[in-house]
Amino acid sequence: MGHLFNRNVLLGVSGGIAAYKSAELVRQLQESGASVRVIMTRGAQEFITPLTLQALSGNPVHAELLDEEAERGMGHIELARWADLMLIAPATADLLARLAAGRADDLLTTVALATAAPLMLAPAMNQQMWRDPATSDNVHTLGSRGIHLVGPASGEQACGDVGPGRMEEPAVIVAAAAGLFESGLLAGKRVVVTAGPTREAIDPVRYISNHSSGKMGYALARAAAEAGALTTLVSGPVTLPTPEHVSRIDVESAREMLASCQALIGDCDIFIACAAVADYRPAETQADKIKKTQEQVTLQLIRNPDIVSAVAATANGPFTAGFAAETNDVLSYARDKMQRKGLDMIIANDVSDSTIGFNSDDNEVTVLWPGGKRALSRAGKDAIARRIVALIAERLASDG
Ligand code: C5P
Repeated sequence: MGHLFNRNVLLGVSGGIAAYKSAELVRQLQESGASVRVIMTRGAQEFITPLTLQALSGNPVHAELLDEEAERGMGHIELARWADLMLIAPATADLLARLAAGRADDLLTTVALATAAPLMLAPAMNQQMWRDPATSDNVHTLGSRGIHLVGPASGEQACGDVGPGRMEEPAVIVAAAAGLFESGLLAGKRVVVTAGPTREAIDPVRYISNHSSGKMGYALARAAAEAGALTTLVSGPVTLPTPEHVSRIDVESAREMLASCQALIGDCDIFIACAAVADYRPAETQADKIKKTQEQVTLQLIRNPDIVSAVAATANGPFTAGFAAETNDVLSYARDKMQRKGLDMIIANDVSDSTIGFNSDDNEVTVLWPGGKRALSRAGKDAIARRIVALIAERLASDG
């Protein structure tokens, strides 16, 4: 059974009698691990109160497009960006028609247009309305745009009719939503991801390190596992929990990280180097704590091995991807680094912007490979990681 851990689900509720099931849907989405925010149409509020969905989701319900107060809080574009999945349940006949026409005449349809997240609809309406050719055409149009449908189910309807048009049960909708994220793109592949900082010991109590949080590497390991890969994280010291279905090897220094990676690459299809490996380490590690007796201490530093270059240089080695954190001329430095290190792909990010990259939850990157590139617009690290994994799968497939 799939889950929605770390997923932001934006639930749209439109005005049909099935809206009463949305309360249970919010609960079940949360039970499967999702964070939920709700947008209601005016019609929906005739069937279920915003207060109910606010209390269950733990977030204010969004309803108005032209509401200064709401736009100051989380505006419609922020909502659209926040979502990993936009789920509309129930989706009425009118809502399907408005989506098919590309209307943006209320908050729900506007966000549906503004989001890059996948859109899933759970239609609910009278059986005759569902069978009407206008609705069929709209459903066909929406399907041809890659929008996912769940249901409707058949059976007895609130109006007394019997036939297709009942909203699917919340459990079925949640399972379909979770299934969207299990891509199978890397099914059976072995993936190794390095993550976090390394620590280079000066003496038994002191070390040299950096501010890497490990979030991007952990998100990549999670995304690889969700794509069906047998995933191993080689992790420097971080405070993050191990993602589900990922095995983790904890290391401290660059040399330990290299040794763990070398032991794994014989049996590895894809290597993703996301760790912020310390470039230098103390030439010697003192066996005892250095005492505070001298006014000045000089530390001699020597270069650490370059882990990703070593992996890339292995005969019959894995597909190798690395990162390039740059502050200027980002793409040309990144392309140069890809060539110098012998990588199959490099993910470039501009670390002069403090709202992305190190320690932040968001990222915005450009992925480069020999002969191509793709810019991935700003999103949460989980969303960026999934897109990187999809690109790696694409490159692997095209390399034959
Ligand atoms: O050379 P630079 O540190 O900018 O390169 C960054 C890329 O190389 C990242 O993918 C990082 O994980 C990897 N790297 C490594 N071993 C090092 C230094 C960097 O694997 N010693």
